[in-house]
Amino acid sequence: MKKKLIAGNWKMNGSLATNESLLRAMLAGVGQATCRVAVAVPSVYLAQCQALLAGSVMELAAQDIAAHEAGAYTGEIAGSMLREFGVRYAIVGHSERRQYHGESDETVAAKAQRALGCGITPIVCVGETLAEREAGKTVEVVKRQLAAVIHANGHCVSEIVVAYEPVWAIGTGKTASPEQAQQVHAVLRAQLRAASANADRIALLYGGSMNPGNAKALLSQPDIDGGLIGGAALKAADFLTIIAAAA
Ligand code: PGA
Repeated sequence: MKKKLIAGNWKMNGSLATNESLLRAMLAGVGQATCRVAVAVPSVYLAQCQALLAGSVMELAAQDIAAHEAGAYTGEIAGSMLREFGVRYAIVGHSERRQYHGESDETVAAKAQRALGCGITPIVCVGETLAEREAGKTVEVVKRQLAAVIHANGHCVSEIVVAYEPVWAIGTGKTASPEQAQQVHAVLRAQLRAASANADRIALLYGGSMNPGNAKALLSQPDIDGGLIGGAALKAADFLTIIAAAA
């Protein structure tokens, strides 16, 4: 059985002092976690967090990656730069980037491609808004978002991680029920199987108000291979409880 992946997404939170105390508390409790664990930190803190995590089971992730290799792209951070700081995963297409930074399905697909080209595993986020769910469009939306990534990445798609994050569940305290999440995960799994003979090795994460209380039920669904955790990844005890639930 493949190892589950628990990835924290700190979003735009932290400081030199709080990052250090948070990571030290996590490292003290994580032991020899039987799942994969990563934290996606703000890019200015990658060097600090790389040093703090050195030699531990916890891996480093970026919250975004440029779609281009290098050059005149003010404010962007290239995959090759992220690699220099030991970045193993990069979140791409988070709904906050789609919504506030106008990232299209094609941009997200290009970012996933750049990440793979640099040896970074993209964590590709897909998910519907509340209006889309209520209009019965959940499957259509997530399939469209994933199709762009499959189209751009061909057989390399087996190297990605996918995170299903219903937009209405992010930071709202409303979680998809384990059954609702599993239903969408099964759709995504089928779509990936149709695209790649190695689809079963792709980790499908759930994200959206995952917390110590609901993690076990979500993570025990057959097609939920881990979690992308926002708010609960900012509290060491909560994050560690979720990691333990993934064991
Ligand atoms: P949340 O965020 O756990 O705070 O809902 C998840 C995410 O946005 O990745």
